[in-house]
This record gives sequence, structure tokens and C-alpha cells, in this order.
Amino acid sequence: MFRRDQMGESAGERRQDTALVLSRRGAVTANYEDFLTQYLTCASANPYHPVTNPKGIINLGTAVNRLMEEELSVRLRRGDALSYSPSFQHYYDFGGSRELKVALVGFLERHFRPAKDIGEDEIVVLNGVTSCLDALSHALCDPGDVIITPTPVYARMFTDVHDRAGAEVLPLVLRQEVNSSSESFLLRAEDLEARIEALRQEGRRVRAFMLVHPNNPLGDVYSPQLLTDLMDVCARHEVHFISDEIYALSIFADEDEPSSRPPFHSVLSLPHPDPERTHVLWGLSKDFGLAGFRVGVVVSRCAELMACLRAVAIYKCTPHLVHHASAVLLSDTAWCDDLYLRLNSERLGRAYRRARGRLEAMGARVREARAGLFVWFSIRDFMEADSAEEEMEIHAQLMRAGVYVVPGSKLYGADPGWIRLIFSVGEEELDEGLRRIESVLDKRRKKTA
Ligand SMILES: Cc1ncc(COP(=O)(O)O)c(C=O)c1O
Repeated sequence: MFRRDQMGESAGERRQDTALVLSRRGAVTANYEDFLTQYLTCASANPYHPVTNPKGIINLGTAVNRLMEEELSVRLRRGDALSYSPSFQHYYDFGGSRELKVALVGFLERHFRPAKDIGEDEIVVLNGVTSCLDALSHALCDPGDVIITPTPVYARMFTDVHDRAGAEVLPLVLRQEVNSSSESFLLRAEDLEARIEALRQEGRRVRAFMLVHPNNPLGDVYSPQLLTDLMDVCARHEVHFISDEIYALSIFADEDEPSSRPPFHSVLSLPHPDPERTHVLWGLSKDFGLAGFRVGVVVSRCAELMACLRAVAIYKCTPHLVHHASAVLLSDTAWCDDLYLRLNSERLGRAYRRARGRLEAMGARVREARAGLFVWFSIRDFMEADSAEEEMEIHAQLMRAGVYVVPGSKLYGADPGWIRLIFSVGEEELDEGLRRIESVLDKRRKKTA
């Protein structure tokens, strides 16, 4: 239905046409039904503005950080970052200019505290972490190979490694514990091991385990012990360990205890039981709110993988002038560390608590988060049936009320009744979005009462 509205034809009709014109591969890509990008397009076609378009859609579904727009604009407009050089007119080192790699090595050393020095040849820069995932899948997996990831998860993971490289993502399902004292959505190394063994017994080739840390959508920050245990499992089974650390520096404190901001332990900071099969991803889209720059980074000590990614970079490079601007930003220690990252964390914490407080006042159950741009909350008490269809019905009602949030089933949540809401937008927009959510939930509360 959505596709017919947007494109004037249904996906089914188009699938038939594309199969005649395109390769099988091309037809798969042309028809990929990707919820997150579809609704981003839909929300962007009618964006809310308090004065010029008050009935527009408030996008609390797409993970963008708008909290530091002003500080970023001021810094980038200073002459050094977006300055012009004739060298930008020519070919360059597609996998990362020397200037950017040096800046990245310094930045990662300050904030990811690597256990071993990172060499410039252990870094490749591509056009976004999305692109890094596609490239890693291309480099590590043959079609049909399995990548395991804990779910719920940022849904494009499934698309990014499957669309072109043909790897298949299979979930390690994290469950909500109902009526239990144990914590919900708990990740355990023994469950990963059991999943790998079960899939191998089914004859599947398990190639990689992919972890989003800090977690999207749960907002969890994992302990060094758990990370070590997970890496040990992967090493024992010769499975690649991919740590997507795109939210590494978007960690915030609990207001009551400002010192309660949990420390971030990058996989880079821990000993690697299998260095050849351990790879870390980071980028500018989230921690720096610069999704438009399309900067994603792979850090790995696997020389063969790096050689493959450097070759692939010719198809997936970020413009040289963006390398330059990024390098200037990341190597400005005073601005990055003392101003930007500190302020960003304070603002994220404030926005999280604001969203959480309002949702709890509506009667929603909110899972505690310490990182990321999102709140993961349960709407089960507002549902007449415990099903993904009912969850989608609530999503449709919210869209009609003018607010887009992501239903948990679209993030591969196994238990219906969860929603991911992005809080890192302007305060006015967040409040209006929450007001719209409240109006929908209120009506449902009256109905279910
Ligand atoms: C966990 C995770 N990885 C990767 C991405 C994509 O990042 P990029 O903009 O660098 O492609 C996102 C975006 O939401 C994300 O949440």
C-alpha cells in the first residue's frame, strides 16, 4: 500500500516488470521492502514545522541526532574545515586520505583506548557504516553464509549484508522476561554458543557474529567481561566478530547521579582471542550527527580483509573534501573532547529523561537506556491483542496522528508490543510528537479499559 502511494505502483507489479529488465540481483535490490528507508521517505515528504506545516509528520523514527546542529555548524564554518584545495579535484586514496587516517588513529586512541596501537593500514574509510556492512559481507561471506545478530536490532543490518552479498542474517533472539525478576533482553555468551552449534548441526555455515554496541534499539552498554566471553565463543568456533560501535560516544548519565555515565569499553580496548577475525565499525553519522557526510570506518588487523576493503573503496568512497573536513573536526581535541562530546552527552541524557518521563506518565513501560538516541518502550498495556498485527495497527494510528516511530516487530523484536522512539530532536518537536502519541494511547486506554 505504501509503495503504491509513493511510486504509483505496487511492489508486486514492479517486481514482475523488474524481473524482465534486470538481473536477478538487480530485481532483488529494486524490490527490497525496507521499512526504515520507506518511512524516512514518507516522513521527509511531509515534514512537520510548527509554523509552516504544523500538520506534517514528526519523525521520531529515523535515528538522527539534531541536538548539536548549531555547535557543528559553527565549527564547520570556521575556515579550516570546509576550505578548498585544488587537490580535491583529483583522484586520491579512496579508502581514506592520509590526513583522515592520522586524525582517526588519534581520535580512536583518545576515545576507544585500543589495547594495541592502531596502524594506518588497519583502517579503511567507506561511505557510511551501511556501506562498511555491505563491504564486510562481500569480503567475508559467500551467498547463503550465516551472520548471527542479537535481536531486536537496527533492521537494516539484515538488508545491508544480504542485499548484494547474499549473506543471511539469523537472529539470536533476546526475549523480554514477563513476570520474572531476571532482566529483559539479556545477551548471554552461552546462548550465542548454543545458536552457533545448532545452526552448524543444521548444516549452515556460520561466518560471523554481529553486535551493535552500544545497542540499537535497547540502549545497552555491554561490560568488558561479556564482550570478552562473546569474543571467546567466536574464536572457539572460528566465527568473525563484528562490533558495530557507531553509538560509542553517545552515552549519557542518569540525572540523579551525574557520575553514573557508564564507561564505554570498545572491543578495540580488549585483548582479541582471534585478531584476524575481529573487526570494529564506527562512523560520523550518530556520535557526530553527520549522517550526510557518509563517513564509516572499519578497523581490523586482518591484512587480507583490509586489502579487499581498500580495493572495494573505489566503489564506496567518501569525497576527498569530506575526508578533509572530518579530519579537521576529529583532530581538534579541544573542540571535540572538551566541548562537543561533553555537551552532546549532557543533551542526550536530558532528552532521554524528558521522553522517558512523558512516556511513563502516559502509562507506558520504558526500558532503561544509557546510550544511543532512542527509548525502547512497551505499549502492551494499550493492545487488545498480543500480536504483531495489533502493533502495526497502533503504528498506523500514530502515523495518522502525524508521528512516525518504529514498531518493534520491524526491528525483528520477537515479542509484540514494543516501540523505538528517537528523542534526539528539538524539544518542541519532541514534545509535540509525544503529545500526539499520548492522544492515540489515551483513546486506546479508554477502549481497552
Ligand atoms: C547500528 C547502526 N549501524 C549503522 C547505521 C548506519 O550508519 P551510516 O549512516 O554510517 O550508514 C545505523 C543507522 O541508524 C545504525 O543504527
